[in-house]
Formats: sequence, structure tokens, C-alpha cells
Amino acid sequence: MKISILGCGYVGLVTGACLAEIGHTVVCTDNDESKIRTLQSGGMPIYEPHLDQIVARNVAANRLSFTANLGDAVRAGDAVFICVGTPPLPDGDADLSSIDSAARLIAVESKSSKLVVEKSTVPMQTGQKLTRVLAIYGRNSGCTFSVASNPEFLREGTSVHDFLHPDRIVIGVADEQSEAQLREIYRPILSQDFSLCPIHDGNCPARTAPSLLVTSINSAELIKHACNSFLAVKISYSNLIADICERMGADVNEVVNAMGLDPRIGPAFLRPGLGFGGFCLPKDIQAFIRLGEKAGVDVSLLRDAEKINKRRIDHFLAKAAHCLWTLKDKRIGILGLAFKPNTDDIRFAPALEIINHLLREHAQVRVFDPQAMEKTKAVFPTIQYCADPYEVADGCEALMIATEWESFKELDWQRIRESMLRPLVLDGRNLLNGEDMLAMGFEYQAVGLPSSDLGGIKPRPAGVPNFASA
Ligand code: UDX
Repeated sequence: MKISILGCGYVGLVTGACLAEIGHTVVCTDNDESKIRTLQSGGMPIYEPHLDQIVARNVAANRLSFTANLGDAVRAGDAVFICVGTPPLPDGDADLSSIDSAARLIAVESKSSKLVVEKSTVPMQTGQKLTRVLAIYGRNSGCTFSVASNPEFLREGTSVHDFLHPDRIVIGVADEQSEAQLREIYRPILSQDFSLCPIHDGNCPARTAPSLLVTSINSAELIKHACNSFLAVKISYSNLIADICERMGADVNEVVNAMGLDPRIGPAFLRPGLGFGGFCLPKDIQAFIRLGEKAGVDVSLLRDAEKINKRRIDHFLAKAAHCLWTLKDKRIGILGLAFKPNTDDIRFAPALEIINHLLREHAQVRVFDPQAMEKTKAVFPTIQYCADPYEVADGCEALMIATEWESFKELDWQRIRESMLRPLVLDGRNLLNGEDMLAMGFEYQAVGLPSSDLGGIKPRPAGVPNFASA
């Protein structure tokens, strides 16, 4: 099928590239011409594992193209996927102006009837508004527009895999033809019979057919918000448990590991730390709160989850202050800038708030991230960007871990300890093994560990097994 993608952000680019990968002919566009120029010249505006390979292969096969001409892009598709941003407004509501513009563009530029698919995360009833805008602005086009909701469940860092091997595909439709078109679009994924799995060189172990859920448009929109808000609540719950562990003397890693083994709970999204960041969970929970308030529903559960999340960084910085007393002129290193590993995305990343605070306190800040340095330079041009974690640690009085990149685990921590002025590690993600760190001579502070000293780990008494071997 011929498909148009409006918006070349994380969602649009992954959707467009993967739809081309499974055999469709896809044209992508974006308001930001520089992004299109980058893509046209073989560059990538974002880092997302495997995406560059898929884009290159499908461009070469003439299934994927990019144009800055919005009208051309709209006209190219039988189905148009709206993948534009829906950032938060100051009151927490989602800003839907880009969705509105996209709908008007489709209505005005179309020369044939189209299926218009909402891929962006939007509040419930946006589909109804979209239908109305298309009807009003497209009244002289001679075209008919049907609207569908097809929420994405892509996690940055694994989004190519998530797109090609999803657990479920949700399509919210108002008519049978839209359902048939979306079934046709997703047929190769539903049957997992696309020729090459780009991630596993054709031998993907995860080829389980996903469920297809056909719902109303309102339900599909709600499913997305309900999922993301639930995940946010789950993370905040683990952070609440972490606080109790710190104050009452238990190890949150042991507690959440045991919780996760209960199949009713499951292990995912129970990792405590600096809280949830990124461009989805924080804004989606806010938008969902606003929606619930407007509907007259008591959303205090969600508000509390958000409140717990906002306090995570204060709590972490309080630990730093407790250990370091004053920060002025102290050299502090930060490992990790992205809001989570395997991405270069720094939107709503805890590291940014930490840097802001350190700069306000006049600390000397040195940082390293495997992917997110370029994006961070645009926000903080004056801090010290280092070539690797060893350069960060050199002469530091504290090293803070703000993103749990796996590569940080493999560092030569002995070498790091020797190069630090004071061997203090504040692990905001519980990435490292506290006992190993203590054995190496570090002062080690993490999240939710048993100590009267604000989450600092105590050596386990001899003869007491650690959790892994218990
Ligand atoms: C999320 C949803 O998972 C995805 O389905 C949706 O389509 C978009 O939003 P993403 O924003 O890429 O995806 O990140 P995710 O992996 O969900 O993590 C969100 C945040 O929660 C990160 O800051 C992460 O560090 C944090 N997190 C996650 C925790 O603090 N603890 C956990 O246990 C899991």
C-alpha cells in the first residue's frame, strides 16, 4: 500500500521505515526542512538502534523517500499516518495544534480519498475532532476521509524491534473499510512473514504473532493513555518502596525482585531510581490527569504518582548535599545524559535537572554519555564534555550515574577510584553492585538501600548470602 507519514520524529521515522521494510511504499515529510535534508542526504536526525540500516536499505529499494513538500507527501498515500508531536501545554493538556494543522493539510491537499491514522498519542475524543476538521476543510475536495486510531507502543532504544515484533496491535476504527485497510497494512507483522528481520539477520527468535485488537476510536485512544499512566504509577510505586527501604532498613533490589516474580505483578517497570523521564510518560500522565479532571473523575492516584516522580531528583540531590556539604567549586562528574539507555533523547531527562542544580550551586560539571552529548551541548554549552568516563572521573569529588548504560558497568572502576579526588559514587539508577564498590574502596550511595545514612550501602555481615545466591 502507498503510505504517507507526517512527522519524522522518533515515532514517524520508525513507523515509516518499518512499514517500508514490510513492503509498503512510504513517503515521509516534516515541517522541519533541515530534518528532511539530513534524511535525503543519507543522515539520521536521531539515534535509534538499527534504524539507520533500515532507512538506508529501503531508500535504496525505492520503498522509502523523504520530501519537504507537505502536499506531495499527503497526495502520495492511500493512508496517511499522523506522527506529529503532542507536547505538553503549561497546564498539562496536550498541545494538539500540530494534529489540527496536519488534519487541515490533509483536507486541503488531498486529491483522492484517504484513511487518516492517528499514531501520535492524543487524548480521547481527538478522533472525533479530527473527523470534523477533515470534513470542514475538505468539503470542496471531493474526497472522503475515514479516521482511525492506531496507538504506538514503541520504547525508544528498542522501537524497531517493538514495531516489527509487537505484543499487540490496536486499531480503533469507525467503519469496516478502515479496519480492512489497517489489517492489510499490518498483515506481514500479524503473520510475522516479512522476509528479513533486520535486527537478527533473519533469525529473529521473537516471531510470535501479535494479537490484533479492533476497538472503537475512543477506546484505542484511551488504551494508550491507560498503558502509559499505569507504567508511570508502577515506577512511582517502586520509588515509594525505595524510600521506605532507605528509612526502615531493607534493600529495594531484593524487594522488587521478589515482587516481580509474582506473575500478577511482573518484573518490568519496577526499577526505582531517578524516576521516569522522556517525552512520553511525563507528558502522557499529565494529559491523562487533565482529561480525568475534565471528565469529573478523581485522579488523585495519578497525581500522587506524578508527585512522587517529581521528588526523585530532589531526593537524589539531597543525598549529594549530605555527602558533599557544599558544592561550590567542587568537580562533579555525571555519567549518562539521555533519559534512558540506548537513545540520544534528552527530553525530560533527569540528568538535565541535575546539571541545572549543580550549575546553580556553582559546581564544576563534567559529563559523558555514549550518544546524547551533541544534544546536550545545545542546552548546556559551557560544561565540560569528556571523551570517556575516565576523563569525567579525573579529579572529581563525586561521580553521579544518571543513566544506566550497560557500558558503565564494564568500566575499570579501580582505575576510576584511583583518579578521583574523593571516591564517592552516587548511583541514581542502582546500576552497580554496591558490595563490589565498597570492596574497591568507594563511598557508594544508591537508591533504596538499607542504611541510616541516606541510602548508603552497608557491607553484608560475613556468612549472610547475597540475594543472587539465596
Ligand atoms: C514509553 C512507553 O514504554 C511506550 O510504550 C510508549 O509508546 C512511549 O513511552 P519510552 O518513553 O521510550 O516509552 O521509555 P520507557 O522505556 O517506557 O521508559 C520511560 C522512563 O521510565 C525512562 O525515564 C526510564 O528510565 C523510566 N523507568 C522505566 C524507570 O525509572 N523504571 C523502570 O522500571 C522503567
